[in-house]
Amino acid sequence: MPENFEPPLFNLRPRDFGKDFVWGVSTAAYQIEGAHDIHDKGVSIWDRFVSKKGNISQGQHGRIACDFYHRYQEDILLMKAMNIPHFRFSLSWTRLLPDGIGNVSEEGIAFYNRVIDFCLEYDITPWVTLYHWDLPHALEKKGGWTNRDILGWFETYVRLCAESFGDRVKHWMILNEPMVFTGAGYFLGVHAPGRKGLKNFLPAVHHAVLCQALGGRVLRDALPDAMIGTTFSCSRISSFTDRTKDIKAAEKADALLNRLFIEPSLGMGYPTESVPVLQKIEKYQKTEDSKDCIFDFDFIGIQNYTREVVRHSYTVPYLHAKIVKASQRNVKITTMDWEVHPPSLYAMIGKFNAYKKIKKIIVTENGAAFEDRLQNGKVTDSERTTYIKAYLEQIHKAQKDGLKVSGYFVWSFTDNFEWAEGYRPRFGLVYVDFDSQKRTVKDSGKWYACFLGSQNGR
Ligand code: FCB
Repeated sequence: MPENFEPPLFNLRPRDFGKDFVWGVSTAAYQIEGAHDIHDKGVSIWDRFVSKKGNISQGQHGRIACDFYHRYQEDILLMKAMNIPHFRFSLSWTRLLPDGIGNVSEEGIAFYNRVIDFCLEYDITPWVTLYHWDLPHALEKKGGWTNRDILGWFETYVRLCAESFGDRVKHWMILNEPMVFTGAGYFLGVHAPGRKGLKNFLPAVHHAVLCQALGGRVLRDALPDAMIGTTFSCSRISSFTDRTKDIKAAEKADALLNRLFIEPSLGMGYPTESVPVLQKIEKYQKTEDSKDCIFDFDFIGIQNYTREVVRHSYTVPYLHAKIVKASQRNVKITTMDWEVHPPSLYAMIGKFNAYKKIKKIIVTENGAAFEDRLQNGKVTDSERTTYIKAYLEQIHKAQKDGLKVSGYFVWSFTDNFEWAEGYRPRFGLVYVDFDSQKRTVKDSGKWYACFLGSQNGR
């Protein structure tokens, strides 16, 4: 039995985190909406990627997913019943601009208007992510993130979103986890659009860094009162042994996984001293770029699930570092083979606090997939509740230690389409039977509802 994880003795209440602390749940368009070709919706890179054999576990896809497109009212009402005050979701670019640029879909605009208005009617604050990985296929055909023209395409898209929804949406995030969509999508080829190698990865990284800042500027210009953030995946990196080689490998992995996107936005440039191959980004850089990578975000969203243990490896090109799988380390793991490691969240809050220019830090994703079973109308997922409590304790500890962190969003509200892993990993507070689309609040969801409901009392 793994020994690393001690269940917390949890006696915290929401008010212990401060009265302005933001509590919510997170989702993403492709993972929940379904209705992939309704009306004039265009094709995204994920619509394409899922149809190629071998890309997704068991050949699954997000064509229907949680059918949020048709069931958003039911889901938002359930959120309300669970006392959840903030809802993070993303906009599907091809629902709004079927070809990525040009024609606007009135049906797409109307859909998100309905979602936003319904949230507001029930006093749930919408937090909108502009880009959660579903690039228009029409743009991918022109090179997608590797083509510098993405700056213009993205600007058009952001402007449309600001004009259409900015009168009611006050909280925005520009990109979701750029390291994951460039790394998995343009280097490893395991996510859409399935491209590989440095020649795709490096330009994609640079253009994503530029768009991250550009999106911020466009929103600020259009909506001076909006709260503008962006989100980063981050994990504490431990070295496998104390050998210098492993320590160096861990340092490189840290630069790549945790520093690559935040540092240029703060004016610090790319972490080339730790990962020299990043110097090759120069090829894609223009004179003004280092200035144009900078944006003064109102908040930074950090998304943490686990820690990574890293060792030196001769066989991994450029990095000479490789991740030692959690399942090989005799530690408590989730269905994703991610180690349950609450102190990793504390470490990441500390790491981002060390960048003095960051004004506000919000945990915009955290959660876990376990083997949930629906039995007699119940899902007894005590592991998930324990996980959330343990991570919340780390947030509280960080606050007590004087670190800033002012919000927490559970990933995810309902079970959904977990990218290349399909539907097997269930991350939801709410169980979804994907045949009937019936929702059942899991025990963890009931716990979160009670916890949030205890705002004013002990
Ligand atoms: C994050 C993604 C999110 C979800 C969780 C489990 O990396 O942002 O869409 O897949 O992981």
